[in-house]
Amino acid sequence: MKDINSNREFLKSLYWDRWDANELEKDQDKGIAQPAPQKPYADGDKLIDLISPDDFTVGEVFLKDVIKKRRSRRKYSGQPLSLEELSFMLWSTQGLSGDKPNLRNAPSAGGRHPFETYLYISNVIGLEPGLYRYLPLEHKLVVSHGCAESIEDMSAACHNQKFVKNSAVVFIWTAVPYRAEWRYSIIAHKMIAIDVGHLCQNLYLASEAVGAGTCAIGKYDQGKMDALLGVDGSDEFAIYAATVGKME
Ligand SMILES: Cc1cc2nc3c(=O)[nH]c(=O)nc-3n(C[C@H](O)[C@H](O)[C@H](O)COP(=O)(O)O)c2cc1C
Repeated sequence: MKDINSNREFLKSLYWDRWDANELEKDQDKGIAQPAPQKPYADGDKLIDLISPDDFTVGEVFLKDVIKKRRSRRKYSGQPLSLEELSFMLWSTQGLSGDKPNLRNAPSAGGRHPFETYLYISNVIGLEPGLYRYLPLEHKLVVSHGCAESIEDMSAACHNQKFVKNSAVVFIWTAVPYRAEWRYSIIAHKMIAIDVGHLCQNLYLASEAVGAGTCAIGKYDQGKMDALLGVDGSDEFAIYAATVGKME
């Protein structure tokens, strides 16, 4: 295991002088094409339409009230989420603000957005329980090929934290580091760790805005979660998660 002091170095801002002096090896500078902003899906994959942001009827709340109300919420009522509420949460966390993939509703260093969003859905009206992935560019869901078969699997991957089983949806964000490394080289990883917090904070606020609650999850088993999502653990791996459930 790494010692604490060497891990602290990761949090520091140490490389910008070398960045300014063009001393960091960056694929962007080598003329290598930038990586796709979204993981592809196969022709035969099942896509599911979400409610368009233009048609949202939820979210018309005062920001100050929502910020003041926000808490980590682990006790859910068992009421289902509507597809519109889920659409609003997805749009708030990774949705596009316009038609450019690098301009989204959460900030990301250099507009790299090095994440994919997986959902284990247990209780959303109109959706079969199971594993899905959000496609921000299309604002759709795709049924995912991971091997998570039940919420029990998800709970086990979150070290059996009890509230996971009662949630309506578990959000799991994976990092796709190369999207950020292509531009930022060794600086990328600190940026990725900062960036992902913005997604979760927007989820907290979007949940509060629709009478739902969120709890962030940093305690999960890396190997188990990556296996459930069907990701390789190197070019893509789970980095953060959060539960959502209705409060009322
Ligand atoms: C990075 C991060 C990881 C967290 N991981 C967990 C977790 O695994 N399990 C849990 O019950 N709460 C988790 N939380 C929630 C915190 O315990 C919670 O934010 C803290 O107790 C403060 O409460 P508040 O969010 O209501 O202000 C996490 C929060 C953050 C920001």
